[in-house]
Amino acid sequence: MMLENQVALITGASHGLGLAIARALSAEGASIACLARPGAGLDAAVSGLQAAGAQALATPADVTRSAEVEAAVRATLERWGRLDIVVLNAGTWKGGAVQELSEADWDSLLDLNLKGAFLTLKHALPWLIERRRGTVVGIGSLGGWVGQPGGAAYAASKWGLRGLLESVALEVKPHRIRVSLVHPHNIRSAGPPIAPGSPERDRNLEPSEIASLVAWICAAPEHVVVGNATIWPLDAGVSGG
Ligand SMILES: NC(=O)c1ccc[n+]([C@@H]2O[C@H](COP(=O)([O-])OP(=O)(O)OC[C@H]3O[C@@H](n4cnc5c(N)ncnc54)[C@H](OP(=O)(O)O)[C@@H]3O)[C@@H](O)[C@H]2O)c1
Repeated sequence: MMLENQVALITGASHGLGLAIARALSAEGASIACLARPGAGLDAAVSGLQAAGAQALATPADVTRSAEVEAAVRATLERWGRLDIVVLNAGTWKGGAVQELSEADWDSLLDLNLKGAFLTLKHALPWLIERRRGTVVGIGSLGGWVGQPGGAAYAASKWGLRGLLESVALEVKPHRIRVSLVHPHNIRSAGPPIAPGSPERDRNLEPSEIASLVAWICAAPEHVVVGNATIWPLDAGVSGG
């Protein structure tokens, strides 16, 4: 119970990696505000967390809409009176050669993956700054380090996230707030768990495996800061990092 009495706001917590992070942080005793768009997915995620014994609150919001994100942060504060951890996870993938990508696709991808993080920080950081403590974890991607054909817009969004957070890290350091970025590759975020011993095991990570890293970052002693952490499955065809 390394995060007892702490409150975490996690964006994109209705599904996939965000839900796995919600489970991992609540297993360490944190109370969780789950931010995702309103709907059955968010309701089911929060009910599941509560059924497992977690203190969980649905904070429905579209992360690309400033007033909704502000209301989600306010609801978190109204419920628990504090905010300690912010996980910027909401995001998606959209591929295609640049000359074929529509302007609408570009806008929606950048809005979700990058502007959503900006808006969440904008509304959440004042509360961390007021308490002079806190942890921010951004979910990037190896696509934020290495270019790949068909992934230009996604890369732009994740490279942008890196630039945003590496700069914010310096802005909030005087307030004793630490900022980390986790860059995963190949998460099996949908479908059944990977069978142990299957070849797929070495090509994909379970969301829970990345969530454990996020929980470790949040639970580390307050003077310990993880900067950029890359994480990939053994056979993902990635080298270096
Ligand atoms: N999957 C991979 O292989 C992989 C690899 C590297 C990095 N990543 C990164 O990891 C993160 C999570 O990926 P994932 O695979 O777990 O995605 P996912 O399963 O598709 O889940 C995305 C989450 O974001 C939420 N979301 C989508 N649009 C939103 C909006 N406008 N406002 C608020 N919430 C919104 C979704 O909830 P609702 O739809 O209910 O709103 C859902 O909870 C992303 O940032 C992604 O780029 C993924």
